[in-house]
Amino acid sequence: MNLTIRETDRNEFFETENLTREAFWNLYKPGCDEHLALHQLRESTSYIPKLDLVALLDGRIVGHVITTKAKVVESVAPEDGDASLEVLCVGPICADPSLQGKGVGSQLMRQTIARAAGMGFKGIILYGDPAYYSRFGFENAQKYSISTHDNQNFDPFMALELYPGSLAGITGRFFEDPGFVTADAHLEEFEKLFPVKEKGEPRIILPV
Ligand SMILES: CC(C)(COP(=O)(O)OP(=O)(O)OC[C@H]1O[C@@H](n2cnc3c(N)ncnc32)[C@H](O)[C@@H]1OP(=O)(O)O)[C@@H](O)C(=O)NCCC(=O)NCCS
Repeated sequence: MNLTIRETDRNEFFETENLTREAFWNLYKPGCDEHLALHQLRESTSYIPKLDLVALLDGRIVGHVITTKAKVVESVAPEDGDASLEVLCVGPICADPSLQGKGVGSQLMRQTIARAAGMGFKGIILYGDPAYYSRFGFENAQKYSISTHDNQNFDPFMALELYPGSLAGITGRFFEDPGFVTADAHLEEFEKLFPVKEKGEPRIILPV
């Protein structure tokens, strides 16, 4: 598919939030909150305009991905303070539901990785399906002794070095931007900006 991938323009923010809502609706829970997370990430200090990307097919937006700054924090002796390493976190990512499985997501991921490496970032960490993200080189973050903020490791918690040895310098816990956390009351207000959609049973049930 001949896609154009470029930075998202400010006047495309709402359209990409709506596309994200369409892609995630009733996927992991009744309705979704990923469009609000995207909105909040765009207002955060972790926001990187060059890594807020749209995919266009014949001028129409058919995919979107955002990547924000995050960190791996290593607890050392309290008197020394905490050492931390800046990394990136990908997501939410989406492809137009009518065009999924045709390479939109892959092109967005490959472009994100190339841009992030070109900007000198060290690594990308994300939560996602290993069957999908392993094709881009992501591996279980445990390989780099990086755990979640509450010190856990599981297969969908994945990391990618952006150059050889780039994640070797630090071990510790991963903290993504607080913008990923959405409040129910805020979501209810935000939803009023979008077309009405029926909530239903989630198509993917996440393990508790
Ligand atoms: C996930 C998503 C961005 C992938 O984009 P896409 O354009 O559909 O995917 P591509 O065409 O690039 O890749 C297709 C391949 O990925 C696989 N794939 C797609 N979505 C997947 C998912 N959520 N988990 C695992 N594999 C997935 C397909 O089975 C296909 O595999 P194959 O090449 O072995 O046949 C898109 O499907 C989407 O928007 N999904 C809904 C929102 C979502 O789940 N986002 C990611 C949350 S981590």
